[in-house]
Amino acid sequence: MCDPRSVHIVSWEDEALTLRAIRTEVFIHEQQVPESLEWDEFDAISMHVLARNFDGQPVGTARLLPDGHIGRMAVLKEWRGKGYGSAMLQKILEELRIRNKQKKAMLNAQASAVKFYEKFGFKVSGEEFVEAGILHVKMILFLKWN
Ligand SMILES: CC(C)(COP(=O)(O)OP(=O)(O)OC[C@H]1O[C@@H](n2cnc3c(N)ncnc32)[C@H](O)[C@@H]1OP(=O)(O)O)[C@@H](O)C(=O)NCCC(=O)NCCS
Repeated sequence: MCDPRSVHIVSWEDEALTLRAIRTEVFIHEQQVPESLEWDEFDAISMHVLARNFDGQPVGTARLLPDGHIGRMAVLKEWRGKGYGSAMLQKILEELRIRNKQKKAMLNAQASAVKFYEKFGFKVSGEEFVEAGILHVKMILFLKWN
């Protein structure tokens, strides 16, 4: 299983090559998302997380936009089901807790990943829609901090 300590917050400036390599493999090659939709202006202003396996190889990434939207959650196929996705999501939720100003986390979930996010308490909010040729649904998690 993934050790939560193997997930780190990184900047686009420092790790763009690594983050791009993971997202290229997962979204562009595996899911056939067009390159023109994958890369946008939000990467430069987002917080990114990077998960590494026990050998230090990069295996997953996700980003948090300044407005609290989580996105681009991706784990390389051969490393799925080992807790990397969960550890990355936990790291992002912890970051929102530290910021202590955001009352909710939001994301556009691929329909196939809804159950993954439901495990963390996210609830479907609204109708399904198609983005980059993939069925999505909005999900929201209300954050309660003590
Ligand atoms: C979604 C994704 C990030 C999950 O990462 P992961 O490392 O496999 O997730 P974890 O190993 O932490 O899984 C945690 C739990 O969620 C479950 N789960 C993970 N992905 C799931 C999915 N797509 N559907 C249903 N359950 C899922 C796991 O079985 C596990 O359940 P358990 O706690 O009962 O054992 C990964 O499957 C992925 O990169 N998919 C392709 C890209 C993608 O669809 N991204 C989401 C965009 S919204």
